[in-house]
Amino acid sequence: MRLSTGRWVSGDDFFDRATELRLLESLVRDRNHVLLSGQRRMGKTSIVRELGRRLENDGWIFLFADVEGADCPEDLVATIAEAAHPIRSISGRVAAAMQRFFAENVEEISAHEFRLKIRAGLSAGSWQHYGAQLFRECADDKPVLLAVDELPIFLKRLHRDDGNARRVDDLLSWMRGVVETLGERAPVLITSGSIGLEPFVQRLGLPDRINYLYSFRLGPWPAETCESCFNRLAERYELQIDDGVALAVYERLGVGIPHLVQSFFARLRDFAGFRGRNRLTVDDVHEVYQTAFLGPAGQSDIVHYDTRLQDALEDEGYTLAMEILAEAATQDVFSPDARRRLERQYAEKIEDVRGCVSDVLDVLVHDGYLQPDAGGYRFPLHPLKDWWAGRFRDHHVPLRDRRTDHDAGEP
Ligand SMILES: Nc1ncnc2c1ncn2[C@@H]1O[C@H](COP(=O)(O)OP(=O)(O)O)[C@@H](O)[C@H]1O
Ligand SMILES: [Mg+2]
Repeated sequence: MRLSTGRWVSGDDFFDRATELRLLESLVRDRNHVLLSGQRRMGKTSIVRELGRRLENDGWIFLFADVEGADCPEDLVATIAEAAHPIRSISGRVAAAMQRFFAENVEEISAHEFRLKIRAGLSAGSWQHYGAQLFRECADDKPVLLAVDELPIFLKRLHRDDGNARRVDDLLSWMRGVVETLGERAPVLITSGSIGLEPFVQRLGLPDRINYLYSFRLGPWPAETCESCFNRLAERYELQIDDGVALAVYERLGVGIPHLVQSFFARLRDFAGFRGRNRLTVDDVHEVYQTAFLGPAGQSDIVHYDTRLQDALEDEGYTLAMEILAEAATQDVFSPDARRRLERQYAEKIEDVRGCVSDVLDVLVHDGYLQPDAGGYRFPLHPLKDWWAGRFRDHHVPLRDRRTDHDAGEP
């Protein structure tokens, strides 16, 4: 197993997930369409790729389309076409069905050019027709698994463009219709993404558009899996580790996110390497956590928690989220009292502030920023809490210490 701190992993670099793979595989073999959700960097893309790889070895066709960059349904259809390009039987049929888009032989163009040609031929009025045709041509003698990764980001973008639910509805209704019409001949669909699709369609009043998808949540690794993965990496890179090092790594993280286990290992390995050592102690873990993990070099692991929030929330929601997270990071908890004070402070600026706070908390919990407990909401992921606390320590006035106009009017 090689160290990996960036892209998805599969094959020998893919560690464990035995239970989840078994469950997903049996769902897919039984022709269930799946909605795979889970926090960022939990390993969603990796598990889908690994499942696809295993099914390919068993005679399936696996198509993988990442639609994070799509701006409109035409892009989504073209991205799926690009994924299908290497499968000659399918791309040949697609090209025959969409003959008018191609002057040349599809075998002579790259997947990227294939995508561009199809994209150029599609319009707001025709993507549904050609998209349905594409799905139909995907049906093959072999069973087909079609992964559509980062679908929720794409849908959010569609929604943001004009602020109403119609385009999201059109897309989801179309997809559902195509899959249902094709029945057994439809490719098995796995859609995945870290932004919660369910809360999003719920808010838009469209929950039934995705209820044909079986919802599967990918959770963190338990402590033992984190420790075994860490030990496996240490073995592979010939680093000796003291008793308790792997557990200390898990405990510093607080949540077993595979990417962070790998990233922590990478930093510890650098730390030892710079000192010409090949042994790690528990103290090293604490030192590296403070210096490398929370320092400038560690930003890349954490900063996306902020940027992704901007994608997930509208302006007002984002402001509230920042307040809530700053409070939970610097005060250890976002308490019910703090919540009341926040709602009061923003009552005049935000219409239906209570509903808005409640929606924001749903997103923050769903995406793993906060966890509810008896005393309020807290960060389960320690580096995220420490990072947020570092960012706001000097700028956040605790909610209980703020005077609002409302307070001023009270005796
Ligand atoms: N099963 C796994 N085994 C080893 N590393 C993993 C595994 N799953 C995820 N990772 C680590 O997490 C990183 C992100 O994985 P990825 O599949 O891209 O997550 P997601 O799609 O959920 O954001 C990988 O680069 C790798 O370091
Ligand atoms: Mg991914």
